[in-house]
Amino acid sequence: MPSAAAPSDSRRPDSLSPGSLPSGSWWRRAAIYQLYVRSFADGNGDGIGDLAGARAHLGHLAALGIDAIWFNPWYPSPMADAGYDISDYRSIEPVFGTLAEADALITEAHELGIKIIIDVVPNHSSDRHPWFAAALAAGPGSAERSRFWFRPGRGINGSLPPNNWQSIFGGPAWTRVTEADGSPGEWYLHLFAPEQPDYNWGSPDVRREFEDVLRFWFSRGVDGIRIDSAALLSKDAALPDVSGSELPGPAHPFTDRDDVHSIYQAWRAIADEYSADEYGGRMLIGEVWLPDTARLARYVGPGELHTVFNFPYLNCPWDADALRQVIDETLALADAPATWVLSNHDVDRVASRYGRSDTAFSLDRRAYFHAFPVDVPLGTRRARAAALLTMALPGSVYIYQGEELGLWEVQDIPDELRQDPIWARTLGADPGRDGCRVPLPWSGTEPPFGFSPAGTTAEPWLPQPKEWRDLTVSAESAHADSMLSLYREALRIRRSDPAFADTPLTWRHAPAGVLAFDRDAGGGQDTDGSPADRTWLDTTGPDPVLRCVANLSPAPVGLPANASVLLASGPLDDGLLLPDTTVWLRIG
Ligand code: NOJ
Ligand code: CA
Repeated sequence: MPSAAAPSDSRRPDSLSPGSLPSGSWWRRAAIYQLYVRSFADGNGDGIGDLAGARAHLGHLAALGIDAIWFNPWYPSPMADAGYDISDYRSIEPVFGTLAEADALITEAHELGIKIIIDVVPNHSSDRHPWFAAALAAGPGSAERSRFWFRPGRGINGSLPPNNWQSIFGGPAWTRVTEADGSPGEWYLHLFAPEQPDYNWGSPDVRREFEDVLRFWFSRGVDGIRIDSAALLSKDAALPDVSGSELPGPAHPFTDRDDVHSIYQAWRAIADEYSADEYGGRMLIGEVWLPDTARLARYVGPGELHTVFNFPYLNCPWDADALRQVIDETLALADAPATWVLSNHDVDRVASRYGRSDTAFSLDRRAYFHAFPVDVPLGTRRARAAALLTMALPGSVYIYQGEELGLWEVQDIPDELRQDPIWARTLGADPGRDGCRVPLPWSGTEPPFGFSPAGTTAEPWLPQPKEWRDLTVSAESAHADSMLSLYREALRIRRSDPAFADTPLTWRHAPAGVLAFDRDAGGGQDTDGSPADRTWLDTTGPDPVLRCVANLSPAPVGLPANASVLLASGPLDDGLLLPDTTVWLRIG
């Protein structure tokens, strides 16, 4: 397909007109599309996605019915970690485009009623950032080095790293530099790749710099900031060894330390400064992976971040009890609107995860999960059911590009084409994240499936499976039962139906393996005000409600006799809800 949006994509349906979310708190129930620029659409034919491609397909996103786009890092970067190594926080990577194009994109998205969230990476820099170059040049003890974590080594001639910390991407978290006179010198800390030196957030320069970066983008009209690795910024300046048994929190030398919160309190004050301008409220969302929900809750609230990603939901197996527990724990975080995330650019795609016999996920066990055979039709059926379950929950929902097409994890990328540093740094022990980053299929029957303009000879930066000819935007647009049609319809209803407007969730009793809950404007209470105690078949409540029933059990279950079906993730068999199927019902 040419990079221009198809005419049918380019008009936003009336029901999706701008301003249908309250502007001051649009993030509370927004549907947010995660756009991974490199893999979304290539406008100039070099095989790499870019801002021109994103602009050309804004109409597709408007027609999908999303409220906001989160862009993964779009800044100048040597791309040692796909843009999470930033060498200039106030510009655009030339491979992706220009700052003028970003400005135009922000304006065009706003005209379509779409908010823009960008990624800010404050834990680490790029080894090509001018500050790091200055630190290398200035030498030990300099003010320039104090913006990072430089330390002498241990052992004879300082030949051992300053402590035993390991990089999250594999190998030691320290790299030794060569000083200006050619001698082996200090070591610097990098919790990720060596090309990603960690900032020292004890440095006032670092704090000032990022506050200025926030203002730079907010004043260009950006509506939200996704904060990368948000729990890692503060380090114990004594840099003690880790034993491995420390839990995230004050006793941990680099994860979830208490003083990280002062950074986000300052950032919230900045976001609030912009809330009264013509664009409405600005939001901060933290990438915070923490097992303890009480610790997670400390990041959100009136004086701090607006929301955090819900990773327990993403990691959860396709199991009714486990999902119910995560949902309840999420909704109990009273100060924060819930976020619901099924996938992102770091994790296996949902259609593959749910097609394995172990349907959970965890970043540190990717190789284990990849060893399972994948039943794609089963995983896809469950991904459809999960989409309707997820979109029925109160809060905001994140949709990672390609999820709406039902793309699967590409696990058979040839080794020589893999790009993720995780693959290289673990010597292939961890397959890495390339499989969820394969360029999107837009149209046609052969790769690059319209990802690049017609006639392009450059190959997409990762190879696309030929079977994706059935999963292109064009192919799926033509079928009412495609994943894309399901997402479009679910988002349309979620956006326009009053049952979804800030209404609470009330569970209904249901058989084992079945999740059933109501969303209703009456607050989910019985007339006497006590919490309702009805079953998933009960239709006697006082108010009309939207009921979501998800069948994760192996047997069909009945449905209320006098309910109308708003949307179902799969065929209903003579009034029965089949296994791995979710339905939205109107009751009353
Ligand atoms: C989390 C990001 O989502 C991931 O892609 C990146 O590699 C690390 N943070 C380091 O920035
Ligand atoms: Ca390009």
